[in-house]
Amino acid sequence: MRSAPTTRRALFASLAVAGLLSSACGDDQDPAGAADLWQRIQAAPGYRSWSRAPAVPERIPSFTAHADAIELFINKPMADTFTAGQAITEWPVGSIVVKDGFKGDTLKIVAVMEKRPDGWFFAEYNGDGDTLFSGRPKVCTGCHDNRKDYSDWVYSIELPR
Ligand code: HEC
Repeated sequence: MRSAPTTRRALFASLAVAGLLSSACGDDQDPAGAADLWQRIQAAPGYRSWSRAPAVPERIPSFTAHADAIELFINKPMADTFTAGQAITEWPVGSIVVKDGFKGDTLKIVAVMEKRPDGWFFAEYNGDGDTLFSGRPKVCTGCHDNRKDYSDWVYSIELPR
């Protein structure tokens, strides 16, 4: 038991290094799709009024690149899976999870995953909403696929089991 946090830290540290190395150049595969997604998450009252995942109810430290603290917001289709209380093996189509990444109090990145009929759409924006990554960039999928079978590609939120 005592070694668990250390192991977790080591994992995050190696993930952070991988993230730093691979994020040097953006991969904006679908600028129109990313702009559309940005509009939808900002649509009043905006994603910051959405639900929080039970596991991440407030701002928490992050060990990945780009941010030293994160906040997560989940839209209704995703939030409903927790109120329903049924075990599921994948997130419903239409699920959106938004991650705000902060350095100090400054919003540095907004990372988004949207579950579509053909799988997750990934997007990452800077604090001003400019798209850095969109579509299925290898940098995103290559790391998130570690969680593919465990929680349907999502790192910080476990499927209701
Ligand atoms: C090196 C590994 C790595 C890479 C690369 C990576 N992520 Fe993540 N991502 C994580 C980890 C770990 C978390 C858990 C929360 C945290 O500490 O940031 C996470 C969290 C997220 C979340 C919140 C939902 C969740 O899975 O917890 C979103 C959305 C997200 N990432 C999107 C992206 C996008 C978009 C990209 C590509 C631009 C990307 N990620 C690249 C490791 C990675």
